[in-house]
Amino acid sequence: MCGIVGYIGARDATPIILNGLKRLEYRGYDSAGLAVLQNGKIEIRRDAGKLSHLIELVAQSPLSGTVGIGHTRWATHGEPSARNAHPHIGHTGRVVVVHNGIVENFLELREELAAEGVTFNSDTDTETIVHLVEHYQATGLDLTEAARRTFKQLRGANVVVLLSADEPDKIVTARIGNAGGVVIGYGEGEMFAASDIPAILEHTRKVTFLESRQMAIVTREGARLETLDGEPVEAKIHTIPWDPVAAEKGEYRHFMHKEIHEQARSLADTLAGRVDFQNGKIRLPELNLTPELANRIQKIYITACGTAAYAGMVGKYLIEKIARIPVEVEIGSEFRYRDPIIDENTVVLAISQSGETADTLAAMEEGRRKGAVLWSIVNAIGSQAMRIADGYISMQTGPEIGVASTKAFTAPLVDQYMLAILLADLRGTLDEKTRRQLVSDLRLVPDLAGRVLNTEPEIEKVAWALKDIRNCLYLGRGINMPIAYEGALKLKEISYIHAEGYPAGEMKHGPIALIDETMPVVALVTKDPWYEKMISQLQQAKARGGTVIAVATEGDDLVPTMADHVLWVPETPWLLGPVINVIPLQILAYHIAAIRGLDVDQPRNLAKSVTVE
Ligand code: AGP
Repeated sequence: MCGIVGYIGARDATPIILNGLKRLEYRGYDSAGLAVLQNGKIEIRRDAGKLSHLIELVAQSPLSGTVGIGHTRWATHGEPSARNAHPHIGHTGRVVVVHNGIVENFLELREELAAEGVTFNSDTDTETIVHLVEHYQATGLDLTEAARRTFKQLRGANVVVLLSADEPDKIVTARIGNAGGVVIGYGEGEMFAASDIPAILEHTRKVTFLESRQMAIVTREGARLETLDGEPVEAKIHTIPWDPVAAEKGEYRHFMHKEIHEQARSLADTLAGRVDFQNGKIRLPELNLTPELANRIQKIYITACGTAAYAGMVGKYLIEKIARIPVEVEIGSEFRYRDPIIDENTVVLAISQSGETADTLAAMEEGRRKGAVLWSIVNAIGSQAMRIADGYISMQTGPEIGVASTKAFTAPLVDQYMLAILLADLRGTLDEKTRRQLVSDLRLVPDLAGRVLNTEPEIEKVAWALKDIRNCLYLGRGINMPIAYEGALKLKEISYIHAEGYPAGEMKHGPIALIDETMPVVALVTKDPWYEKMISQLQQAKARGGTVIAVATEGDDLVPTMADHVLWVPETPWLLGPVINVIPLQILAYHIAAIRGLDVDQPRNLAKSVTVE
């Protein structure tokens, strides 16, 4: 997701905002801009390109003022360009806004505003926000109330920061959906609002965070927090430690916990720059996928290890279903020993968080030796798997420190979903309506992830109930079968509890013999094409006395009658289900391990990057 920095105080806002944006550069972006209140007027500098370019613009045409907001943008609606870069100013020239996220109902809002005669200067969803604020101001509301009304109309995961030349003593910010964050920093006679802690750490260590559906009115003296319904909220102020590692962990005890919670945002970042929601198109430029190549591919081998291999299994499902290209998944350590059948019409797609896993790299070399086209989906920028590939997709999740992979599992699921759509589009095998629907469904993902993350307290209770188990079986079918494998892997690697993932249909061929009252069963029983089959599997497990923990879709009243515990997930388009369904299993594994007092981030015998065979 994009970066945001806002400042109100006594100092010159411009260098503070530019430095703050610099600290967020690692998140990736394609445009940058800032707005400063200068002599009662809003002045904006913005353009496509890097921050260094914005700094040049500011040097050529300086800005000065003590209130301002800045932004680094990753395009979602409209190409990277000066007119689409943030901040966006309204027609009165008196209100300006920066925004992170996706306004899910932006087309609707845009049409309503257009019907009122509003014209648009950009292709962004963000611009609707500033026009809506002005619309409410025109009815006589002050900035806070106009902003509140606007925020309440926005659907999806969004963070907004805005200011008005008519009320120069405040910045208004909100966290509207369930993803993305707003951190408010407290200084002496100055205040900050940013998307991430590093942006403001050099100025203050006293911070508070907005929860979903909260807003803050930030002045030089402090911040007033409220819900979007106007209820006052008491700000919990945290002091960020000086130790850089602890500072990076922020409010979390473990990196894994933090990384689980980053997923609402890392999933938004995964979409950034890749999805053209207006035209229902996907862009993956680093993949170097031409129509000619797309049309000659006859087979894709996905190769990876551990969690990344399970991501590949979901990818097989997505690519075969959407693009109708045969896919085989082979774990990296086996690929080169099985003499795979490869020619120049074969793609070998490696998935790797580190991009340095020896077995995955060896599989890529095997692909290269046999003349395949080599692709990779990689998190670590500049790693070998990225460098040796003919094309790559960067995960865009930011560094993952916890040995147990979480956000680097969900990102490649979405990457492969996008890849499948792009392949199908280039091969002409997807009708336009379906393609547009598949692309449109992507905008739901960050908020759906955020909604599951909000259920953590219930999942933690289940973790307490399971803390002493010795074994656990995870069952899933179809596209959720790899999620059963991944859930089991998460539990075993950090809690040292024996856990096995199984295709639920295989139970009757052996593993059902294991089930008794000492063997809990975690079953993925969400509303997908295998729902009914999973219900009967659930009944079989229950009949044998096992404690049943079901991952189920909100609103399902059948599953709770059969399960001892339910981990709820929101209704999700089923091809994207794995992205959401794995999150409660990550949280469950995390809490079981944390309750057992284990070293969650560095489990015994494991390394983050396995660079030996
Ligand atoms: C995941 O939780 C594991 N620590 C492990 O399975 C990991 O996914 C595997 O070693 C592959 O690593 P990579 O993604 O860096 O290639």
